[in-house]
Amino acid sequence: MTMHSAVARAHANIALAKYWGKADVALNLPAVPSISLTLAPLITETSVVFDERLSADTLSLDGAPATAGELRRAVELLDRVRALSRFQGFARVESSNNFPTAAGLASSASGFCALAGAAWVAAGQAYNETVISALARQSSASAARSVYGGFVELPVADPTQGDVAALAARPLYGPDYWDLRIVVAVTAEGRKSVGSTAGMGLTERTSPYYEAWVAASPGLADQVRSGLAARNLEEVGTAMEQSTLAMHACAMAADPGLIYFQPATLAAMEAVRGLRRDGVAAYFTADAGPHVKALCTAADAPQVQAQLEATNGVLRTMVALPGAGLVVQPGGK
Ligand code: PMV
Repeated sequence: MTMHSAVARAHANIALAKYWGKADVALNLPAVPSISLTLAPLITETSVVFDERLSADTLSLDGAPATAGELRRAVELLDRVRALSRFQGFARVESSNNFPTAAGLASSASGFCALAGAAWVAAGQAYNETVISALARQSSASAARSVYGGFVELPVADPTQGDVAALAARPLYGPDYWDLRIVVAVTAEGRKSVGSTAGMGLTERTSPYYEAWVAASPGLADQVRSGLAARNLEEVGTAMEQSTLAMHACAMAADPGLIYFQPATLAAMEAVRGLRRDGVAAYFTADAGPHVKALCTAADAPQVQAQLEATNGVLRTMVALPGAGLVVQPGGK
């Protein structure tokens, strides 16, 4: 019996310049450029085994069978891998996170990145970061960025170029470029109420601020990029806060309005600005959920973490640091 298998490991990432909104829903093309930081030690490990005995794809997540919705999104990615590689056969997929799904960081980015990498190599294809990033992007745009370590950009794609590189993320600087920290403040248990795809769709259709968000985003991404080039934390941080608040303001103005913040979200944001008033260079961001992530230097991370721990409504904190890109090994675990 022939087994085609591979194991992949990918880190989560956090957007410094946010993606919110799609230029093309079918191709899952972002309407705005985004820039992220890949985060250690938050890892998804995924194994893919194409097994002749299977009559359908199977997926387990952290040891339990996946829901129908989770399985469908994995099968869609496997279908794209099969179409592109011309490899036929069903796969057994086992995926686990070394961080709880409720850690306050999305597992979709690391999850779809690891799945794309493992499936591509298990299908007998040569490891190719560009192809894997473009494949992951179609499942979750943020997943395209986790292929690379450190600081990563996902530009607005031009599908008419017919070049796979136009659909992939690209690395800006490796994880050793700048020793920053992300302090995560978890402010609520459980899953978010409205997922990013549904939330973006509602925002695009109904928010009167959507066009303004799309118009403002490239400038904010430019500011993050130039701040990174100069290792200027103030420039990166102020653009990141602006990108976060503009994204949330745009989503809040949807009909019905999307409010991802909880009282503790605002308290944690205020705590970060309070640190700044005291001379500590810390800046906040928040994705489509209530948790707050603070960007700061490695030296300031203990103080930022202590301040967020002491903030009303913050349940727990953890510190993440720049992480490496995707790693894929052919064969089983
Ligand atoms: O790629 P998705 O569907 O997980 O959406 C990500 C959206 C944000 O996390 C809010 C922003 C971003 O760029 O990661």
